[in-house]
Amino acid sequence: MRQRAESGYFGPFGGRYVPETLIHALEELEESYERYRNDPEFVEELDALARDFVGRPTPLMLASRLTRRWGGANVWFKREDLAHTGAHKINNTLGQILLADRMGKRRIIAETGAGQHGVATATVAALYGKECVVYMGEEDTRRQRLNVVRMRLLGAEVVPVRTGSRTLKDAVNEAIRDWVTNVEDTHYIIGSVVGPAPYPRIVRDFQTVIGREIEAQARERFGGDPDAIVACVGAGSNAIGAFHPFVGREGVRLVGVEAAGRGLESGEHGASLAEGRLGVLHGAKSYVLQTPDGQIREAHSISAGLDYPATGPEHAYLKEEGLAEYASVTDEEALEGFTLCSKLEGILPALESAHAVYHAEKVARELGPGRNLVVCLSGRGDKDVEVAAEALGVGPEVSGGR
Ligand SMILES: Cc1ncc(COP(=O)(O)O)c(C=O)c1O
Repeated sequence: MRQRAESGYFGPFGGRYVPETLIHALEELEESYERYRNDPEFVEELDALARDFVGRPTPLMLASRLTRRWGGANVWFKREDLAHTGAHKINNTLGQILLADRMGKRRIIAETGAGQHGVATATVAALYGKECVVYMGEEDTRRQRLNVVRMRLLGAEVVPVRTGSRTLKDAVNEAIRDWVTNVEDTHYIIGSVVGPAPYPRIVRDFQTVIGREIEAQARERFGGDPDAIVACVGAGSNAIGAFHPFVGREGVRLVGVEAAGRGLESGEHGASLAEGRLGVLHGAKSYVLQTPDGQIREAHSISAGLDYPATGPEHAYLKEEGLAEYASVTDEEALEGFTLCSKLEGILPALESAHAVYHAEKVARELGPGRNLVVCLSGRGDKDVEVAAEALGVGPEVSGGR
């Protein structure tokens, strides 16, 4: 079923479509990953940091008020928002910094959309004493000011990207350009399950800690597998990490939620699995949002982390093979998910995660009472407070007073 994953392909998706100058670096990365991924010292270092630095395992929490309100399956939150730096992105950056260190790279570069991957990269670069440069679309530096400041405080240089839509896709382009120029001493920490092989597999493997923990915690808390797992899909790393151990397993529905932005019919969205066509973006073949003549179409989402015109190749494969299902949720609906989660469960979720929360109602009702649904709460909403407050018309002013 997954036979071509090892060769850098997931069915017809994936591959390595990059300039010649990067082939050697990708081969070096692949060799290094093969050499270290089962090396006891590497595994021990990663596990110790996951425990002591990141705070793993993150809890699995029963969202009891949402469960009651929706009248369907028990709703459980996998609390990646409680991981150090506030999102699942730290799982991948930690794994990759260990590889970069072993490959003798002194300089780290990354791209970031919502800023969570940038913060996670700046964090691990600080931890390992590496120089760090993060490319970020200018539009995102405005939307996610808090994370820009966090990265700079951690010692990273943040480079605003002023090309294209000034968002994530453009930041990736700039990071690739930097990498081509400085490939000898630089490792590029890609933030999701995208890019040329072997990145999609490496990032998936480092994020699979989420799914492995769900599996063990589900057994402990309700004595078996969840009936469904729901996760938001930007480029797809938190979803693939949560899904991976369950792919092909009888009785577990895997549901990815893309950004429908202003609505699929508006054309302003980030739903590349729903509306994209086969194409190549950032070195891999996958579903890509395109104009009729094959140009990359700009994506839109209220959440910077879902604002990307493609999805990782493995998701395209899971969709094509019917091994996972994909839905989409609009900006307005995501804000409803954000409000519900905040007011009923006392958790401000990331706007990305709020997409999964909103869609969870539908899945919970379909499953029915007594069944168990896990929602991956990929990150916390601190970074989104300004965007959400503006969209919901909530200001700091208070009325009355005594
Ligand atoms: C909190 C959070 N969730 C989800 C995403 C989307 O990324 P992915 O689809 O790779 O999990 C991001 C990206 O920035 C994020 O910050």
